[in-house]
Amino acid sequence: MKAKTSVFYCTECGNETSKWAGRCPVCGAWNSIVEQAAPKTANAPKGRGAPRAKARPINDLGAAEEELRVPTGMGELDRVLGGGAVKGSLVLVGGAPGIGKSTLMLQICGKLCETNKVLYVSGEESPHQLKMRAKRLNVESDKLYTLSETCLGDVLESVREEQPDVLIVDSIQTLYNEDLDSPAGSVGQVKDCTMALMQLAKGQGITVFVIGHVNKEGSIAGPKVLEHMVDCVLYFEGDRNMAYRILRAAKNRFGATNEIGVFEMRGVGLVEVPNPSELLLSGRPEDAPGTCVTCAMEGARPVLAEIQALLAPAAQNVPRRTSNGFDYNRAAMLLAVLEKRGALKVSACDAFLNVIGGLTLDEPAADLAAILALASSYLDKPIGKSVAAIGEVGLTGEVRGVSHLAQRLAEVRRLGFERCFVPKRHAERLEVVKGLTLIPVSNIADALREIARS
Ligand SMILES: Nc1ncnc2c1ncn2[C@@H]1O[C@H](COP(=O)(O)OP(=O)(O)O)[C@@H](O)[C@H]1O
Ligand SMILES: [Mg+2]
Repeated sequence: MKAKTSVFYCTECGNETSKWAGRCPVCGAWNSIVEQAAPKTANAPKGRGAPRAKARPINDLGAAEEELRVPTGMGELDRVLGGGAVKGSLVLVGGAPGIGKSTLMLQICGKLCETNKVLYVSGEESPHQLKMRAKRLNVESDKLYTLSETCLGDVLESVREEQPDVLIVDSIQTLYNEDLDSPAGSVGQVKDCTMALMQLAKGQGITVFVIGHVNKEGSIAGPKVLEHMVDCVLYFEGDRNMAYRILRAAKNRFGATNEIGVFEMRGVGLVEVPNPSELLLSGRPEDAPGTCVTCAMEGARPVLAEIQALLAPAAQNVPRRTSNGFDYNRAAMLLAVLEKRGALKVSACDAFLNVIGGLTLDEPAADLAAILALASSYLDKPIGKSVAAIGEVGLTGEVRGVSHLAQRLAEVRRLGFERCFVPKRHAERLEVVKGLTLIPVSNIADALREIARS
């Protein structure tokens, strides 16, 4: 009889069962039961070969335990990681197919190899394909080792053999533990393989980058616990048809999560974009109604973004509302404010709001620009090519102050804007930005009057 090699447990309540079921018999959750390798017997090697750690006073921890960063050589990636990857950490990189995850990982190998030994494990590409890609990306080094393998045991064996400083796994969904019956990519497999890689990172101080596929909701395919387990979760986003890509941190144990990295996809690979505002505003229509530029803070960096709106008479009884890159509920609120405090009959219109360039604006500072774009579309009156707007809009239609206003205005001016809507109360305290005329507004009625006048 085949020895029992796996157990099943519920990801919701943790109850263990001997066989899989669609519904947990204890907590009643559906689809929560996953397979996991059974605990090894007493004579099997413990903890995948890692020696048992001993508790020590924190003051005794010496220089070896201090934070050591491994710079990846890609300024934008290092910025998102908080100044390079921390030695012995596990970074999960997620993104849609074709967005450039493998490209990014292979590209950083070039720089990493200057000081580290790197092992690139690919479960998706053959050695020949890896070589072809490395050649195109101009990545060459004696210290870069590749392995086309999907079996977890064999990957761990190779790591023991090669002792790399950095391990890259492309992708976690192709890796499988043969002790489990479930197929590669299933919840149990993904969790188990990540756990093994995590032990490798923490136990042996290897910096591990893991590529993960995303599901149709856009989060990394696999159990939610995956994101809790790892040190850092990065998402690589962008429109596949457009050249630029945005890397953002959803979780970072060793840095801020609000930084973004911007890249452009070219034939030679991903090229860093140190000035994203210029890229995001390129191709902007001149003097068209329904567009307004705002300045968002992405971490410590101000980034200009264009908000476009289209209001058209509703095609059906219930008007349609769509928003891309802007919170849906916030957009609905702004429409209601526009109707009630701006006296525009937007409730009879289909409304579409879109942030250009795949950027997501989750800051209230973008409210005023969104309102102006909507009003401009409704009134069919352009706001003007060299006009930007910064400010939060409240339910009574008041325009409120935002943080980092001076820094945002400097960026607005740097990109050639001549006028900028700002909250009135803050305008008085602001230093004059040469070449930039401020339009102070205390509520949206002021702002609408200003558009009508221009
Ligand atoms: N020969 C090439 N020349 C230019 N761009 C390429 C070439 N091959 C691939 N690409 C770009 O790389 C992208 C695929 O990147 P890849 O790193 O394989 O994505 P992922 O690993 O996220 O699925 C393609 O969408 C394409 O834009
Ligand atoms: Mg890939």
